Amino acid sequence: MTKAFSSLIGCHNRKYSLQGGNDASKIMSRCLRVAVVGAGAAGLCAAQHVLSRQNTFSPPVVYELTNQVGGTWVYEERVGSHDNSQSIHSSMYRNLRTNLPKEVMMFPDFPFDQHLPSFLPHQEVLHYLERYSQQYGITPHIQFETKVEEVKPVTMEMEEGKVTWEVTSSGGQHGWRTETFDAVFVCSGHYSDPHLPSIPGLENFKGTLLHSHSYRCPESFAGQSVVVLGAGASGLDISIELAGVQAQVTLSHGRPPLRFPLPPQVQQAPPVSRVLEDGAVQFVDGGVARPQVLLLCTGYNLSFPFLGGAALGLQTICPFLHFHTQVQFALAVLEGVVSLPSPAEMEEEVRREMERNMAEGVEPRHLLKMDSAQWGYYQTLARMGGFRPPPPVTQSLYEEVWRQRQNHPQKYRQLNYRLISDIEWEVLEVQPEREVNWERGIETER
Ligand SMILES: Cc1cc2nc3c(=O)[nH]c(=O)nc-3n(C[C@H](O)[C@H](O)[C@H](O)COP(=O)(O)OP(=O)(O)OC[C@H]3O[C@@H](n4cnc5c(N)ncnc54)[C@H](O)[C@@H]3O)c2cc1C
Ligand SMILES: NC(=O)c1ccc[n+]([C@@H]2O[C@H](COP(=O)([O-])OP(=O)(O)OC[C@H]3O[C@@H](n4cnc5c(N)ncnc54)[C@H](OP(=O)(O)O)[C@@H]3O)[C@@H](O)[C@H]2O)c1
Repeated sequence: MTKAFSSLIGCHNRKYSLQGGNDASKIMSRCLRVAVVGAGAAGLCAAQHVLSRQNTFSPPVVYELTNQVGGTWVYEERVGSHDNSQSIHSSMYRNLRTNLPKEVMMFPDFPFDQHLPSFLPHQEVLHYLERYSQQYGITPHIQFETKVEEVKPVTMEMEEGKVTWEVTSSGGQHGWRTETFDAVFVCSGHYSDPHLPSIPGLENFKGTLLHSHSYRCPESFAGQSVVVLGAGASGLDISIELAGVQAQVTLSHGRPPLRFPLPPQVQQAPPVSRVLEDGAVQFVDGGVARPQVLLLCTGYNLSFPFLGGAALGLQTICPFLHFHTQVQFALAVLEGVVSLPSPAEMEEEVRREMERNMAEGVEPRHLLKMDSAQWGYYQTLARMGGFRPPPPVTQSLYEEVWRQRQNHPQKYRQLNYRLISDIEWEVLEVQPEREVNWERGIETER
């Protein structure tokens, strides 16, 4: 249960009694003030649900570093930093299409446009989030170009056990300032700070070295030899893109050999062990390659600089559904619908769960991955928080797409699905393989 607080860092239980008159100022004086850090999908979801409970919450204050909503889904051609020297947040690349169908990916209360195919180019997801922000009246509550610098708990001396939160921000209309809130939703994302594995001799590498955070499009690698390190979603998807421009790809990873069909330009190799003095890349089995490019698709660090080192965030989940469920649970806690155990009991439960998982062989770096555990977790949160759990059809279609992706990584996006009911989905027609220039809106059949 403690996992619910991966994104809600500050709360206290407060029972509401609106009896004794409904004078607006009295009600307002009892309303909780909530801050939201970030206006990506999670932050917008938090803001929407806060706004929908106006009897118990004041309108949220949403802090957003950039000048627009969407976070990850804001494609930025540049790499490195913006003109104002702020690091580029999004790891989006030009041809990316969603790896979940829109029927699973959507917020359950806000479907995508029914005319769209199931697997969407990133532009459509951004458009969806912009519509969400407009439709629910969130945009006026966002302080754009405002960076949260510090989030700090303050213990109230007069009220035992009560904690409020000071949020210090910079930029925007107000410059540096500190505001106080009853709770803070941390929605700043965790796919921006590249994880760079320590590879002995890496400084000897003489070719182009980059992380997938800075990868934008395959054309600049046409015909080149590329070692892609890591076979997560980025490593696999980018390898397939590179094969499409006749790059010779060595997909180096520590998983059991991938058995599904890969393009002939993609060969597999075990992980990189070191870079030799002459710049050659050596693999753990002793094999050697001399690639022109070393592309690290090695994932991201959980990084929350404004929290003084705390690490939050669950992985391998169905993101928008996860936000939708966690946010409602967190608000139920704040509303007093759910009573939490003491912090000591929650810490103890986390410790026991970590120990159990490690005893079962889960690597420490994978302890925050949920995989199939996410479905039971959502049911538990919904039951405790008294809201509607995700319908069974979401899990069923998610698992079907997972299987399709494992077996046909190059083709699974050609399928279209339709939800028939809370428990049933169907496959629509199979799309011919298409080459899409999304920038210019041109599609041609291959
Ligand atoms: C390459 C890639 C492809 C993906 N593909 C899919 C997919 O197909 N389907 C899917 O469901 N999910 C996908 N995801 C997962 C994706 O991260 C989630 O869908 C979702 O967008 C995450 O939303 P978020 O709000 O948690 O974070 P983000 O989208 O990262 O938003 C965080 C926001 O917080 C702001 N911010 C950060 N720090 C501060 C600060 N200090 N002060 C103020 N504001 C701050 C940022 O500017 C940003 O706007 C993908 C992720 C990546 C990296
Ligand atoms: N829509 C899409 O098509 C799409 C495309 C790209 C990304 N995404 C999303 O973006 C998010 C991030 O994905 P990601 O692939 O960038 O990160 P990721 O899921 O964290 O995967 C990183 C991979 O790198 C491996 N790795 C790390 N260090 C390594 C090393 N030294 N040697 C070999 N392998 C190493 C990891 O192996 P271990 O597992 O052993 O740690 C892991 O498999 C995910 O949510 C993903 O779904 C979506």
